[in-house]
Amino acid sequence: MKVTNDIIYVGVNDHQTDLFEGQYAVPNGMAYNSYVIIDEKVAVVDTVDVKFTHEWLDNVGAALGGAKPDYLIIQHMEPDHSANIYNFMKIYPDTTIVGNAKTFTMIANFFRDMDLDEKKLEVKNGDTLTLGKHELQCLFAPMVHWPEVMLTYDAYEKVQLPHWCLRFALQWEDSRLQSCASASLPYQ
Ligand SMILES: [Fe+2]
Repeated sequence: MKVTNDIIYVGVNDHQTDLFEGQYAVPNGMAYNSYVIIDEKVAVVDTVDVKFTHEWLDNVGAALGGAKPDYLIIQHMEPDHSANIYNFMKIYPDTTIVGNAKTFTMIANFFRDMDLDEKKLEVKNGDTLTLGKHELQCLFAPMVHWPEVMLTYDAYEKVQLPHWCLRFALQWEDSRLQSCASASLPYQ
């Protein structure tokens, strides 16, 4: 599904889970969001829950259309979003993973068999990753949920790519990060 001409949604829907994190009723299920951005450089944003590995990889492959991904941007390391980093890197081993210092500490602990020495790009708050016309700004939101959480704002499309908090995405354009610390969390 296209979000814009260059941004393709490759997330999956989970209708098997009726309680998010075992306590929040989600009668309509949940979505694990993930995106492919096609430009001179190609980026994949986030992965999905381990229950949907094949569906997600099929979505990613279709969106790539034979292109090789240059970057896998990890915005959040909770396993329902990060579980397929290892599987992705087995299929696309030349991809550079983009994250912050805390992201890479978690990756090293979650995926002990992965050697990322030459395949990681550590960003700092406010850094920009240029794909071509798409300039992706990495903005940290630590402890909004987990300590490594960061958000990706595409300055070309003027969109933020939400991974878990829809309300936050809707607030983005008006208030940027101002409301994030107090955001109640209608998780996705
Ligand atoms: Fe989360």
